[in-house]
Amino acid sequence: MTFEEAHVLIKQTLPEKRYIHTLGVVETAERLAIQYGEDVEQARLAAMLHDYAKYFDIEEMRQVVIEEGLDLNLLQYGDELLHAPVGAVLLARQYDLDQAVLSAIRNHTTGEPGMSRLDQILFVADAIEPNRNYPGVELLRAEAAHSLEAAVVATLKQTIEFLLKKSVRIFPLTIETYNDFVNTP
Ligand SMILES: [Fe+2]
Ligand SMILES: [Fe+2]
Repeated sequence: MTFEEAHVLIKQTLPEKRYIHTLGVVETAERLAIQYGEDVEQARLAAMLHDYAKYFDIEEMRQVVIEEGLDLNLLQYGDELLHAPVGAVLLARQYDLDQAVLSAIRNHTTGEPGMSRLDQILFVADAIEPNRNYPGVELLRAEAAHSLEAAVVATLKQTIEFLLKKSVRIFPLTIETYNDFVNTP
């Protein structure tokens, strides 16, 4: 699948606001890929497609988790987690896409221990793209300017703190990713 094909698909799939967010993620992922020496085309493609399943029917997404043997924990930690892994599965079914691109899409919400540099770029780009405006986003932007890993850790910390403050459950993979990254010298 080319970037332009992905662009057409996303423009017709996502509502305006999410489409604008997506363009911000594309721009940011491209910038980070250049800065950190990763594949720019893969970064742009993964960014364009990352929220593909964001507004899909929740019951259908839960069904995909079961059918595909994905982590059943996904059914118990809030529906917000579904669109990344389910989006990757649905895109892989319909289009020819590199595993590296699918991995970045799959991991963009929760992270994953040992995630690739491309995964990290999308994970951070999704959090700091120019349309994002929440307390702490400037700190993440500052971290991303000097270290991709530091930006991943800071993003994970903010995610976990946000969930703690809301007194909601924290997906184990996110905690595992945090542990993995802070243990890396
Ligand atoms: Fe997302
Ligand atoms: Fe997103």
